[in-house]
Amino acid sequence: AAGDVKAGERVFLKCRACHQVGENAKNVVGPVLNGLFGRPAGSAPGYSYSKANKESGLVWDEATFREYIADPRARIPGTKMVFAGLKKEQEIDDLVAYLKTFRAD
Ligand code: HEM
Repeated sequence: AAGDVKAGERVFLKCRACHQVGENAKNVVGPVLNGLFGRPAGSAPGYSYSKANKESGLVWDEATFREYIADPRARIPGTKMVFAGLKKEQEIDDLVAYLKTFRAD
């Protein structure tokens, strides 16, 4: 189904303990997620990634992001992101719509 930006903002509450988006977003526990779609994995400036994430060879697009966020440790074995994943397809649709509103700075 089509993603809903507002609903995606609520889904992002599950990410916000570790990730920031928007103006003045900083790397914290996890990297900034502005401009995610189209960027290679492991490329947020100034963030110290695991080898697994940095060398995954992934480029974040809708397909790779969907697979990853459904089961992060399956898509990137050895990731240091401790998150079980999102099981509901609609939540992922909404999250994608929300994240797409944040361009790279
Ligand atoms: C990495 C998304 C939840 C901690 C990443 C990456 C993405 C992502 C796309 C890879 C970024 C890149 O390659 O530049 C999300 C989303 C979440 C979420 C959408 C919520 C649905 C969390 C939570 C935590 C976390 C709750 C902390 C408990 C991290 C860490 C990394 C990471 C530490 C770096 C992984 C590494 O270098 O191995 N996240 N994340 N994330 N995330 Fe998350």
